[in-house]
Amino acid sequence: DSSLKAKERLSGKKLVITAGGTVSPLDPVRYLGNRSSGKMGIALTKAALNAGADVTLISGHISVPLPKSPNLTNIRVETTEEMLEAVKKEFLNTDALIMAAAVADYEPVNYIDHKIKKREQGNELKIFLKETPDILKTMGNIKQENQVVVGFAAETNDLLKNAAKKLEEKNADMIVANDVSHGVFGSNEDQVTVLRKGKEAKSIKETTKVEIAKQIINLVADKLESRKV
Ligand code: CTP
Ligand code: CA
Repeated sequence: DSSLKAKERLSGKKLVITAGGTVSPLDPVRYLGNRSSGKMGIALTKAALNAGADVTLISGHISVPLPKSPNLTNIRVETTEEMLEAVKKEFLNTDALIMAAAVADYEPVNYIDHKIKKREQGNELKIFLKETPDILKTMGNIKQENQVVVGFAAETNDLLKNAAKKLEEKNADMIVANDVSHGVFGSNEDQVTVLRKGKEAKSIKETTKVEIAKQIINLVADKLESRKV
């Protein structure tokens, strides 16, 4: 029975999956955010649970319900720094990390500690932004031989070229390349190309995010099995 076999593939394995968008607070009531729904991260979480894994889901802002399972631990975060801290803490005894979150690339240089008043700054409000830490790159650089690190690449142009660059620069084992030039945010369907070091690109044609998630989890299981000694 293939469903039974699929169930066993990740039993005893721990996965950390990030989902949704991180946000960059401007003042106590406002933030800069992005359009991530968290659907892909949640679909990956469900697929990993179905394959028998213990999952720690680290989620930013998401607009879909969280799955419930005794094998699921959920950690909520707001900012990119909070997500980095949570991922770092969990990573030590983790078999695979999947960074499906839409991580905010920038945050205000200065957080204003009170609600910004409309005309406090004149009729143009200037906000200076600085880069946030790159979580995937940080983890890619500290991963052990037996740990698998997976990232996504959201691109509107030069999809494969940019994704291959991310695979290399972030020292990931796998990058799921995602063309976001058409409305994929909040959508239930998607199409992706999976890049792995030393392997042919594998394209997963237009299908549901649930099916894509299943296939990605299977590729992660393949990778973990290929490392068994
Ligand atoms: N990522 C991350 N930390 C960041 C930014 C991105 O861990 N500060 C992760 C994302 O979760 C994703 C991968 O890196 O798995 C690629 O994210 P993407 O936004 O496509 O790439 P960036 O490296 O941020 O570059 P750019 O946005 O300029 O394309
Ligand atoms: Ca980015």
